[in-house]
Amino acid sequence: MSQQARQLQILKLFQQQQGAYLSGAEISRVLGVSRTAVWKHIEQLRSLGYRIEAVTARGYRLHGSPDLLLPAEIRTELETEVIGRELVYFAETDSTNDRAHALAREGAVEGTVVIAEAQKAGKGRLGRHWVSPPGVNLYASIVLRPSIAPRQAPQLTFLSAAAVARAIAEMTRLRPTVKWPNDVLLSGRKVAGLLNELDAETERIRYLVLGIGININMTADQFPADLRYPASSLALETGSTVSRRLLTCALLRQLDKLYALYLEQGFEPILQAWQDYFDLTGQQVEVSEQAGICRGRVLGLDGEGALLLRLADDSVKRILAGDVRPL
Ligand code: BTN
Repeated sequence: MSQQARQLQILKLFQQQQGAYLSGAEISRVLGVSRTAVWKHIEQLRSLGYRIEAVTARGYRLHGSPDLLLPAEIRTELETEVIGRELVYFAETDSTNDRAHALAREGAVEGTVVIAEAQKAGKGRLGRHWVSPPGVNLYASIVLRPSIAPRQAPQLTFLSAAAVARAIAEMTRLRPTVKWPNDVLLSGRKVAGLLNELDAETERIRYLVLGIGININMTADQFPADLRYPASSLALETGSTVSRRLLTCALLRQLDKLYALYLEQGFEPILQAWQDYFDLTGQQVEVSEQAGICRGRVLGLDGEGALLLRLADDSVKRILAGDVRPL
């Protein structure tokens, strides 16, 4: 059994004790390891930020847990089928998307989730940088292996945006909105971004990586000055610190639910779930596409998730990709 699995067992025992002392003998009996090994695991947990008191003749007592996204912390709250089957954790990495690609190429199971406390080279869309300071946000990438054609891959972007919006609504009681196709906003400010990447042949996807970045407890001074779109964090919007652990669990649960729905019923219910958070219908917007900029009134989305715009000449334009800005 891995060191991480043993730590998880000890944390579970502490949870069951509900703040009471747990003897070293009891831990050693349940884990089937020596008292010295128990002590080593306790020391490792302490080095991760767990505050564990040790009292002679009584045992160990858990005083406080760090708000870390360790697999041991996430797994206790997770009741998912597919998402989070494997949890891979980094205190720091270059980009969780790059880690997830590497794992997927080595055969990682569908639902593998890669989480980091910090990213040195966090990637945003269109080659931009994603600011990823340690310990305040969520940086996660999920490996999926759906049997779909590459042209259907953007559907999974709607799926992750809907899951993020639902998790934020659940945790903050605020009403997030989605900016087509894939940002999540609170009061018009971006709090989450998605970067989905795929590895595919002409007709078949080998795997997809859903990259999700959520600004959770980031403070105003941690945002770069030159942001293209106004940005914020859940803490700034709610006025209080948000548990990264609970938000991560809520997100993985929502992803699991929506992914099961997608595999069973296809894209339609996913688009509906996404539309619950879309508030631009009827509004005048400006869309920057690769080909240039256009303006029009949002009519809604078609069944494939393309944006339908009524232009000034009364024609309807169908847009598959671009950056939307309300006017
Ligand atoms: C965007 O809005 O530009 C997309 C941002 C996506 C950021 C996330 S953080 C986790 C994952 N790893 C990365 O390097 N990027 C995505």
